[in-house]
Amino acid sequence: MVKAVSHPLFARVYPKINAYMEAHGSIEHRRELLAGVRGRVVEIGAGTGANFRHYPAEVEQVIAVEPEPRLRALAERAAGDAAVPVEVRPGRAERLPVEDGSVDVAVVSLVLCTIEDVRGALTEAARVLRPTGELRFYEHVRSQNARAFRWQQLLNPLWRRLGGGCHLTRDTERAIAEAGFAVEKVRHFDFRPEGRPNPASPSIIGIARPPTAGAR
Ligand SMILES: C[S@@+](CC[C@H](N)C(=O)[O-])C[C@H]1O[C@@H](n2cnc3c(N)ncnc32)[C@H](O)[C@@H]1O
Repeated sequence: MVKAVSHPLFARVYPKINAYMEAHGSIEHRRELLAGVRGRVVEIGAGTGANFRHYPAEVEQVIAVEPEPRLRALAERAAGDAAVPVEVRPGRAERLPVEDGSVDVAVVSLVLCTIEDVRGALTEAARVLRPTGELRFYEHVRSQNARAFRWQQLLNPLWRRLGGGCHLTRDTERAIAEAGFAVEKVRHFDFRPEGRPNPASPSIIGIARPPTAGAR
């Protein structure tokens, strides 16, 4: 049985947070995340569908999986405005409603911070990817600075409660590697909207190759 994901308060606030972040630079991050993507794509935890308009024309189809009902309704609306075909499906990262080895690209953006079972989600991403496929990721992560990391640890319980389960302290690049993906490219940066750092500033954007069948 797949557990429901319901964060009504967060789902109301997130579109506003996202609009603020996009007005201050995250649009560029979304473009960087999706540059060169082609073929059949699964987007995991698509939220409001903020990525949809940035998919290149070479994309044949996006299957956008989103468990939260209010966010999914917004994603369905965004799908109608996208330049490439987008199908929004209910479901969770830990059990994707997608066939084995059927997609060229799996996209996660600002979502591995929130998913309860990160390893399970990455195993699922590996399951649905073709052997030649790739994982594209854009995530906020734990700080490499010891002092900033201690602040993230202190704030994490409150942040999780207000942020729909979002963690500040995850080492997501490491989690991707530990799940058997080969990280091919990664850019670390601090995202500082309006020049101001915040606890979720440390970020990564990158590409990883799925584990070979024997290594899964
Ligand atoms: C911060 S939002 C990011 C949304 C979107 N990916 C973006 O880039 O704006 C986190 C998203 O993760 C989704 N989520 C939470 N738990 C999930 C799970 N187990 N499987 C899939 N998505 C999940 C939430 O519903 C929400 O849409």
